[in-house]
This record gives sequence, C-alpha cells and structure tokens, in this order.
Amino acid sequence: MTQRVLTGITTTGTLHLGNYVGAIRPAIAASREPGVESFFFMADYHALIKCDDPARIARSRLEIAATWLAAGLDTERVTFYRQSDIPEIPELTWLLTCVTSKGQMNRAHAYKGATDANLAVGEDIDAGITMGLYSYPILMAADILMFNAHRVPVGRDQVQHIEMARDVAQRFNHLFGQGREFFVLPEAEVAEDATLLPGLDGRKMSKSYDNAIPLFEGGAKSLKDAIAHIVTDSKLPGEPKDPDGQALVTIYDAFASTEQRLAFRAALRAGLAWGEAKQQLFELIDAQIGPMRARYAELMAHPERIEAALQIGAAKARALAAPLLAELRQAVGLRNFTAIAAAALTGTATMAGAAHVKAALPVFKQYREADGRFYFKLNAADGHLLLQSDAFADGRSAGQWVARLKKDGAAALTEAPVQRAEGVEAAAVAAALSALQAAEA
Ligand code: TRP
Repeated sequence: MTQRVLTGITTTGTLHLGNYVGAIRPAIAASREPGVESFFFMADYHALIKCDDPARIARSRLEIAATWLAAGLDTERVTFYRQSDIPEIPELTWLLTCVTSKGQMNRAHAYKGATDANLAVGEDIDAGITMGLYSYPILMAADILMFNAHRVPVGRDQVQHIEMARDVAQRFNHLFGQGREFFVLPEAEVAEDATLLPGLDGRKMSKSYDNAIPLFEGGAKSLKDAIAHIVTDSKLPGEPKDPDGQALVTIYDAFASTEQRLAFRAALRAGLAWGEAKQQLFELIDAQIGPMRARYAELMAHPERIEAALQIGAAKARALAAPLLAELRQAVGLRNFTAIAAAALTGTATMAGAAHVKAALPVFKQYREADGRFYFKLNAADGHLLLQSDAFADGRSAGQWVARLKKDGAAALTEAPVQRAEGVEAAAVAAALSALQAAEA
C-alpha cells in the first residue's frame, strides 16, 4: 500500500540552512521514493496564531513556497498547497473540536508553556493567550487527518501534537464510524540528530538563537560572511586541529560525500588553517545552494508561477478533501434533506412503494450518442445535471463506472472519468452520491 507522508511548514520567518538540511532536503528526497505519496503545505493558518503582521505573513508564505520549489520539489509527484486554500480543513477542525476534550488541550505544550510563563510573573493564567493558540493542536490534527497521512515528519517539539491527532482520530472513528475507520492513525517521524545542523556558535541552528546561516537571503556574500563567523578554537595555521566537535566540520559533513569528509578531517589534522577551511566549506555549500538560489530569484521575480503551482496543488488536495468531508458531514448528521428523505423512504420502501424512493433520489443515466460512443451522466433528484462522463468505446465500461460510483460513492470520484457540470459544487455531487450509496446499501 502506498504510504502517505504529510508535513506542514509554519509560514512566519525566512528559512535558514538548518531548515534546508533538516527538513526541506530530506522531505524532497523522501518524496522521490517509490510507494510514497507526499503532501507538503504552507501552514499559513497556523502562522496567524503566532503573527499579526499581515505583510510578514504574506511575504513569508511566498518566500517559503519559492524556497521549496527552488530546492527541487517536483509538484507533479507531490501535492504542494497552502493550508488556507483548503476550506475543508477549517471545517474539519470544527468537527474535531467538538470531540476534543478541553482537559487534553490544557496539557498541550505550547499552551502550558504560555500559562506557566504568566503564572511565573504573577499575571492572570490566560493573559495574552488566544483561542488560536489554545486550539492549535486541533487545527494541526485536521491538517493530518484530512488526508489520512500515515507518517508525519516533524521536529521533536511537535510529537505531542501528533499524539493528540491520533487521540482525536480514534475518538471520532469510535463515535461516528459505526465500525468504519474514517481516519488513519498517524505516526510522528522525528528526524535523527544527524540532520540537526549546528549554528554559528555550535548550538542548534535557530532564528531565536541568532546563530543561523541564511539559505538564500543576501546571496553568496551573506553565506560567506556567516561562515566566517562560525566559532572555532584558536589554533594557528599549521597547527594540527581536532575535527571532532567542531560546528564547522558538522556543517561540512551535511553537504559532503564520504571521501570529502575524510579528506577534510585529514587536512585539519595536518594543520589546515581555519580561514582556509571556511573557504572550502563555503565553496562546498555554494556549489549546491548556488543553482537553487538562482531558481529562487527567478521564482520570486515571477510570483504568478508560484501561484499557478499552488492552485494546482490546492485542486489536487481538495479532490481528496471534499469527498471525505462530505462523508464526515453525513456521519455526524449534517445531512442533505433530500438524502434524509431517501434514507427514510428506503427504510419504508415496502410500504411506500419503490416509485417514491426513485423519485427522491439522484439518477444515473446511460446512453449512446450519435458518435457511436457510450456515456453516462448523474442527474440530481430534481433533474439537473451534476456529473457528465467522458466517452467510452463500449457500454460495459460505462456501466462498470456507474456501478462503482453507486457502491463507493464520492470516494470513487478522484479516479472516475467524469466532469462536474458547470456551477455544481463538489459537495453537491458528494451528497448526491452518498444518498445513492445509502439507498444502495
Ligand atoms: N506545527 C508545525 C510546526 O510548527 C507545523 C504544522 C502545522 C504541521 N500543521 C502540521 C506539521 C501538520 C506537520 C503536520 O512545525
């Protein structure tokens, strides 16, 4: 079975070299593995929780999208989108909010950290805390469950959130699934320490420590300047140097082949000057990052290309999200009244007579056109067109698709050779199919 891997990037800051080595590069590599279906998205609703500066939000999501594309993300293989382009996500967030226990949210690290800080300074426990921060894990659960992700690569600080997503998924499945598992239970995948890049001072590279090496910002010059500031010991040129535990060497390793690593260590032991070592590090990194930086500049000069890629991503994502959400709405009882009538009538079909049942349901019609080819369409109960199929060479294939859509409902829609009629919402089609499916069952 294909494994779905999903991860979100909160769009507040600009990305640094540590983000590239720790998140972007491994995610892109993983997305190229066979048997993996990857979902990467800009968590821009999450960004609103942390930042109320609109210009910064707008800038950051553009830069981060451009960075992923410039780093070689293949948007044909991967579903790449903005969280805020998928209205099904906030809708699912609400359905999940209604089954999440408040006590569990009280224990979420981010909220707990904020209340502890308030108490420590004698403030009101909830001073300055928004409902956004409080509900952060539920929005994150919706991100993950919406696409039934199996694996979620995250930093260690996010593991608790994945556990909460599992809990909420289990609760929802249990309450509304009637034996059906709507949601896959996701697993957190924590990057090994090897992918954690040290910063200029040897601590973990982080914006908040002010020790970061920029990825593209400021061009080759900034990269070079930052590398010049990496802290080393004070051994002089010609003196043998111990490569172990040097941030410079760890950063070198993150971009080097095995032979390069060995050669670099040997040269340091033989007395290579730190200044020369920094020059080698710069050249190594710039050979890999330089071409991406050029693509990044090109993309930033053409934001419409980034927009186009993200619109395609949103359409791919919504083709999965809309049918699942339609089923979830059914499951919790937010049902189309026509479908309720149909279900009720089906229940009493023997008494009311089959004719009534038929009248209340959407209908599939199969037919042959003058071109000699076979087609089918789906009409709503009131007769208006919902779906139109492509042409089939034989009637049997058309019939098989009709049968499959009746049986599997909206879940079969992503593969079915059909188009939605103009002006018809995906949710309307999903509801019609669910009504038929209910009648079929
Ligand atoms: N909260 C994550 C972070 O700060 C970002 C994120 C949002 C995310 N939604 C997600 C990560 C879903 C993985 C899956 O890093």
